[in-house]
Parts: sequence; structure tokens; C-alpha cells
Amino acid sequence: MTPDGSTAAPTHPTASARTHPNSAVRDVPPTRVVPSLRAEVETGFAKRPRELSPKHLYDARGAELFEQICALPEYYLTRTETALLHAHATAIIEAARPAEIVELGAGSARKTEILLAAAADHAARNQAPLTFWPMDVCVSALDEAAQRLRERFPRIAVKPLAGDHTAGLSHLPARSGARLFVFLGSTLGNFEPAGAQRLLGDIARQMGPDDRLLLGVDTVKDTATLEAAYNDAAGVTAAFNENLINVLNRELDGDLDIAGFRHRAVYNPELQRIESYLDATRAQTGTFAALDASHAFAPGDSIFTEISRKFTPDSLDADLAPAGLVRTADFLADGNRYALHVIARADA
Ligand code: AVI
Repeated sequence: MTPDGSTAAPTHPTASARTHPNSAVRDVPPTRVVPSLRAEVETGFAKRPRELSPKHLYDARGAELFEQICALPEYYLTRTETALLHAHATAIIEAARPAEIVELGAGSARKTEILLAAAADHAARNQAPLTFWPMDVCVSALDEAAQRLRERFPRIAVKPLAGDHTAGLSHLPARSGARLFVFLGSTLGNFEPAGAQRLLGDIARQMGPDDRLLLGVDTVKDTATLEAAYNDAAGVTAAFNENLINVLNRELDGDLDIAGFRHRAVYNPELQRIESYLDATRAQTGTFAALDASHAFAPGDSIFTEISRKFTPDSLDADLAPAGLVRTADFLADGNRYALHVIARADA
């Protein structure tokens, strides 16, 4: 699975044109083309198991279910990362001394607010300006976050960016000083090593010697804790995964019966990752009018929908090194349950 398996590299002007009518959100044009859902189904459904990249899990309903997942008792990732940010925001800001914070996949930017509070204090003490660039594909989430953050932090210039960080970062707006890139939530874990290294390389190419990356990743731990986090008792994660069938039906004019699929998430200790699947529970043939194609499922056939990699310092370094990045500070939760890493260019 390659969530960012991209192809051509069209050229675009560096972007800041405002293309969203009632919004101050600016577009960041892609550096390269990322495959459409249609293209992914055509290639991914030819494989066994069939596979799709996890980004398609996040339609409006999927985003809502993911918010619910973050509050589940079994899903320790979000609250552990939040606690780490509360404990270490000041130290992270002292280490990075940012004039600008760029968050990739910012969404509601709730957790980042903790960092922004520390950054705003730091900027006020130094009588320095501070800009926050939250970047996301969802313009409505950006608008909401921008309004809330401008009210809370009047001295931060909040400048939302609409764009897909998996499509490259060559067209980010020009900088005014040291940048802190922020990539939280263990989203790096949703990429195969090749995709993770490409994304980290894209970030590294935008980093100057004084810039830093703050990366939040989940850690390798016992199978029971990991599998519980992706098989919650309330069934929210199952609904999140199964919603992919609704996305396929809506986007490709399909008729798959969602009731004929069941969520399965297992830990693969060799590859140190949770693997999520949708297993067909009965035979059915789905027709996708938009593809002019049908797909027959036998009981037990699977669609591989997501990987959630878990990291050790060594396995993270194996993704950082090819991108020319190194860890400069590590903040670990109790029992190494989760990690925040401050990262710099290796040649800085
Ligand atoms: C967004 N991402 C890091 C989550 C994860 O843990 O892989 C998505 C998720 N999938 C199931 N539960 C949460």
C-alpha cells in the first residue's frame, strides 16, 4: 500500500492565490499528481488481497468517526500525545525558536493549540512575530480552526493552507524566519517506509539549518494493547473502516453491501504494524458504474485498508536517514507508550 504513490510532476507557480470564495484559505498546488480513488481501485483491486490507501477513509463521516476514535478508552494515542505536548511544549519551543509553525494535516489543530500557547508566550517575551500555517485538504476544518485560534491568540498570524501534504511541498509560501514543521498523531505510521521516506524528504527539502520538525509517533509495545486500540469494544473503529464501502459506492456509483464486510485489525510483529482489513463475510458482486466494472468477492476475501506502523528509535531513524534528517530531542511518555521527536537536517 502506498498512500502517496504519486506519478507525474507538473509545474505550478508557487502558490498563494486565494481560490476559496468566503474564506482566507490559500491553495498549495501539488508538486506531483497523486492517484485518484478511481485509479487506486483499478490498480489496488487487481491485487490479492485487494488494497486501497487509508486516505479514502476520511470523508465527512470518516472524519467524524475518527474524532470519536481519538476519545475512545482503548485508543491511547491521542491522549498520550496531548499529555506529552502539555508536559513539553515549552521545551520544544525553546529548542525550535520558531518564527513560523507549519502543521501538516492540521485538521482542527486542537493538539497544536497547546504548542501555539507556548510559542505565543515565547514570541511575546521576545517581542517577535509568529505565524501559524495549518495545512489540510479540508477547507471547512481550516476555517473553523482559524477562527478559533485567531480569537484565542490575537498576536499569532493564522494563515490556513489548503493542500495535500502527500503531493509534495515545493509550493509552500515564502518564509519569514525559522520554521517548525509539525506532523502529529502518528500519521507517519500510515505510510509504508518508501512513502514515509518520500514525505520526510519533501519536508527536509523545505527545511533550512535552523528549522525543526516535531514528529509524533506511536511506539512498538505489547500486542494486546495495540490490537485493543484498533478493535474497540464500542465498534467505532469497525464503523470507521467499514465506512470505506460507503465512500466507494458514493464516489464510484457502486452497489456493494456494507453489511457483507467485517472489520479486522491485527498486529504484524515482524513488520511492527497494525494491519486493517475489510473481510467479505459472504459472496457478493459489486458493480461500479463509474468504472464500468464489477468486482466479485468470495467469503473471506479482504480489502487491505490501512497500516499503522509502530516505531522504535532505530526504525524511525531508518526512515529519517534517507531524508537527511536526525533526531535532536526525544520526549517519551511513561513506559515509552508514545513519542514526540524534535528533528533537524543532518547537515545543519
Ligand atoms: C490517523 N492515524 C494515525 C490513525 C492510526 O492510528 O493509524 C487512524 C486510525 N485507524 C484506526 N484507528 C485510528
